[in-house]
Amino acid sequence: MNPSSPARLPRVLLVDDNAPLAENLRDILADAGFSVRTAGSCAEAQALARHGFDVALVDLALPDGSGAELAQAMKEASPDSEVVLLTGHATMESALQAVRAGACAYLQKPVNPPELLMTLETAMRHVRSHSEKRELSRRAAMAEKLAAVGTMTAGLSHEIRNPLNAAALQLTVLERRVGRLPAPEQGPLLQPLHLVRDEIRRLDHILEDFLQFARPREFYPKAVDVTPVLERVLALLGGPAEKRHVRVLRDFAPVPPVAGDVERLQQVVMNLALNAFDAVREGGWVRVSCRPGEHPDTVEILVDDSGAGVAPEIRERIFEPFFTTKAQGSGLGLPIVHAIVTQHGGTITVEDAPEGGARFALRVPRGR
Ligand SMILES: Nc1ncnc2c1ncn2[C@@H]1O[C@H](COP(=O)(O)OP(=O)(O)OP(=O)(O)O)[C@@H](O)[C@H]1O
Ligand SMILES: [Mg+2]
Repeated sequence: MNPSSPARLPRVLLVDDNAPLAENLRDILADAGFSVRTAGSCAEAQALARHGFDVALVDLALPDGSGAELAQAMKEASPDSEVVLLTGHATMESALQAVRAGACAYLQKPVNPPELLMTLETAMRHVRSHSEKRELSRRAAMAEKLAAVGTMTAGLSHEIRNPLNAAALQLTVLERRVGRLPAPEQGPLLQPLHLVRDEIRRLDHILEDFLQFARPREFYPKAVDVTPVLERVLALLGGPAEKRHVRVLRDFAPVPPVAGDVERLQQVVMNLALNAFDAVREGGWVRVSCRPGEHPDTVEILVDDSGAGVAPEIRERIFEPFFTTKAQGSGLGLPIVHAIVTQHGGTITVEDAPEGGARFALRVPRGR
């Protein structure tokens, strides 16, 4: 195990009312690269557990209740985490208690440091495998949903597009006829005609988005310079930014080219930036940045904003087709982004921006 992986330190919740012992264990674990919180009672442990933990190290005898019951409750509340029980006497009874509580191991006091670290490493391996499994099943469910959406919308979009094209054509005929009328009569007629044209254009746009799901275009990745793509997006954002009094910031570090499709990468960043615009108040900001990824073969593109961030309870859902919290939203922006990024062999995550708003982080493989 590598407890100091760049993502974040593994979190241990240590529950023991023996303060000197808890301090001692905390030092050992912190030196080994764990992030440790300590609690001296069941109540304190449950309060801390709400902030999340990977492994809980729980003493069997606690002042306000049984460690085994606490362990069981914690395991039920966070099934992806693991619990290790600590016991003063290794008896058959304590071993049984540990099994019943769903603990993955139990350690006898006084705790021997190498044994402690080995046990925690094993527990962390379990934790990682739980979260990998969950991520895999989430992706499979999403792929299934996307495929269903694709099939349905392919037919529907096709059927809508034909009458829509016919309407657009008739509109052109009307516009031409109106164009032949004396100038003073044209004005009041042209205005509603332009409105209809704009709406038809908008519908056509939405259909185009739908069709991207149904039959994604062929993908021939080329080496793409990231900065000009981001510059173009920023240029396009100038107008809306001014209108909404939102500052657009940039932070471009030198990065190698990525392997991808210029237009689709632009579409990804544009979608993320428009979402960020929707999330910030007047006077807020949206920042687009790029930097070399932590993994040397990747480039990171970040879109941060000064909004309220994405609430934890909807984080899992925002990439699902049709999930939206906006009255006018279609909920297709992020699923399209996700599909394009996956097509690029990259990943997208939602995090907290350093200043507290949302951060959408793309990691795209560099070009060769
Ligand atoms: N930067 C952000 N800050 C806060 N919430 C966000 C942000 N970006 C996306 N979201 C949330 O994710 C949801 C889904 O976004 P998505 O782009 O898929 O759809 P949408 O923006 O609602 O509609 P549209 O199809 O018009 O893009 C949003 O409704 C919003 O709740
Ligand atoms: Mg959107």
